[in-house]
Amino acid sequence: MAIETRPDTEQDAVKASPYQALLDHGRERGYKLDWLQQRETFGSAPDIGTEDSGGFLLQNADSGPFGQTPDFSDNMTGRPRGALNRAESPRVGNYPVRTKSDVWLRNGAQLYEEAVQRQWSSSTDIPWHTLEALPDEIERAECQLTTFLTEVEFVAGDVPGKWIAYTTPDYYEPRMYLVSQIMDEARHLDVFRKRALANGGGLMGQLNRAGAAGGVIDSARDFTEMSARLHISGEGSVLSLFRMGELMSYNDAEKAMYRLAASDESRHVAFGVMHLQYLSQTDPERSAEIHGYLDEIELGLTAAADPQNPVVRGTDSNTAISILMGGGADRSSIEEGQKILIAIRRRQIKEYMQRVRVAGFGDRFENGRASAMLEEYVST
Ligand SMILES: [Fe+2]
Ligand SMILES: [Fe+2]
Repeated sequence: MAIETRPDTEQDAVKASPYQALLDHGRERGYKLDWLQQRETFGSAPDIGTEDSGGFLLQNADSGPFGQTPDFSDNMTGRPRGALNRAESPRVGNYPVRTKSDVWLRNGAQLYEEAVQRQWSSSTDIPWHTLEALPDEIERAECQLTTFLTEVEFVAGDVPGKWIAYTTPDYYEPRMYLVSQIMDEARHLDVFRKRALANGGGLMGQLNRAGAAGGVIDSARDFTEMSARLHISGEGSVLSLFRMGELMSYNDAEKAMYRLAASDESRHVAFGVMHLQYLSQTDPERSAEIHGYLDEIELGLTAAADPQNPVVRGTDSNTAISILMGGGADRSSIEEGQKILIAIRRRQIKEYMQRVRVAGFGDRFENGRASAMLEEYVST
């Protein structure tokens, strides 16, 4: 039987290929080189940066063909984006989040890099030695507030945490960003816990979760709903409070604690705003649904009492902040503290509205959809 041969020129070309030469080399020596596959995507040469430019950044590593993110992902096997499919791979993940607009944001890799570069330590970056004995009511108020913060910081970690496992590995940038957020929240939990225990006090009462208006953060059923509730509303409100941390600090340790936590929170809020903006630009069909979540969020933001927001009256942490900001537990100090809290609440609402505008849903403030209570807060 005649053996079919290829024309000499083609054989020569194949022979000349370094890939083929490598395969031949292995075969002649008994190596199994089946895993070696010729890829047209080989040979990327990303900008690895310099020490001055911030080093080799994730967004630059993935600037070539492997950076192409699919609008829909069929990847159920944990395959890294851009890697070759292995047909016999088991389904290690059953990822409900496989539509890009459901989880994506522009510059997710940059935000992750920023998170990595700005890690700090509650052990060594807080000047704990500046703590001094405080009047009893001030110490108790600080302990009540930090007990509250210890509890809610944990929520801010474990709520986004579950979405990491729900999201296809093809969208690894938001997944890795969420991993960094969980690290941040663990640190917040630990810094506030340390403060509760550091100065002769201790942990006080847990959060009373009854009566939360507008749904609670951990009730979200969809990633964008969760992100709007947590990143934009919940963490946005906490950020407004932390930014005023100087007003409730009695030493440099507390100032550093609120300042460093605020810098992390601003990154968490940015993630939520950037994600919602991406969704509004790429999937306008979800717009009515998103407005529905914002309706619920605004119910909470404007509620007369809200256990999740320490700035709103009616909680132990609210009274604690009044004492800290007013400088004592007597009536006039608490009233003074309440006045500052009302100003912070106004700021929370103004900042919320600004974030929603940036995210592309600001029409609700012009067309009567948004809660009328918001305007009352910002206009007084
Ligand atoms: Fe936090
Ligand atoms: Fe946070």
